[in-house]
Amino acid sequence: MYVCLCKGITDTQIRDAVQEGARSMRDVHASLGVASQCGKCGITARDIVRESLSCN
Ligand code: FES
Repeated sequence: MYVCLCKGITDTQIRDAVQEGARSMRDVHASLGVASQCGKCGITARDIVRESLSCN
C-alpha cells in the first residue's frame, strides 16, 4: 500500500528500512525521503515505523 504518494513510498519499504536499521521516523525520512513534500503521510508513516520497531 502506498503511504507517501508524493514520493511513491509503500508501507513495505518503510518496514524494510526498519529491518535494515532505521530506528525512528527521522531515520526513515533521511533514508527514503518519506514525508519530505506535503507531509500528509507523516502520521501514518510514523505509526508504521513504531509498529515495525515493536515487532523486532
Ligand atoms: Fe508523503 Fe506528500 S504524501 S510527502
